[in-house]
Amino acid sequence: MKLYIINGPNLNMLGIREVNKYGTDNYDTLCALVREHCAARGVETVFYQSNHEGDLVDKIQEAYFEGADGIVINPGAYTHTSIALLDAVLSVKLLCVEVHISKVEEREDFRQVSYIRQACVATITGKGLLGYIEACDILIGDNQQ
Ligand code: DQA
Repeated sequence: MKLYIINGPNLNMLGIREVNKYGTDNYDTLCALVREHCAARGVETVFYQSNHEGDLVDKIQEAYFEGADGIVINPGAYTHTSIALLDAVLSVKLLCVEVHISKVEEREDFRQVSYIRQACVATITGKGLLGYIEACDILIGDNQQ
């Protein structure tokens, strides 16, 4: 089984950006945590982070062409703006889980919209980096049924 873990803009700044909201762990720590959790379950992971919307669309399409079994995605601010990311997930028809490190539902009004959510089987918010683990477990579970 193979999962794509896709992160959008500014998530490469984890550990530097707004640590009161996103914590002190950095992006490499996130990748190591998820990689080890999945590897222990025999699941391969492919990690990708970009600050560019089109590059994220390309990666979602690559997940399909490379035979991924699911996608965990934190689209960052593109969550709230991007129809292109929604269309990409709808196009590939892969199981997809939306993750947010912070509790977006308790933040500004403009963070209350998520375009991608309607194409996702689950949304996890406010659980920090452990949200990514929970997202992987949902996909691993779904595929084992
Ligand atoms: C975020 C929440 C978004 O609103 C924000 O733009 C981010 C990070 C989160 O992980 O909590 O970049 O997706």
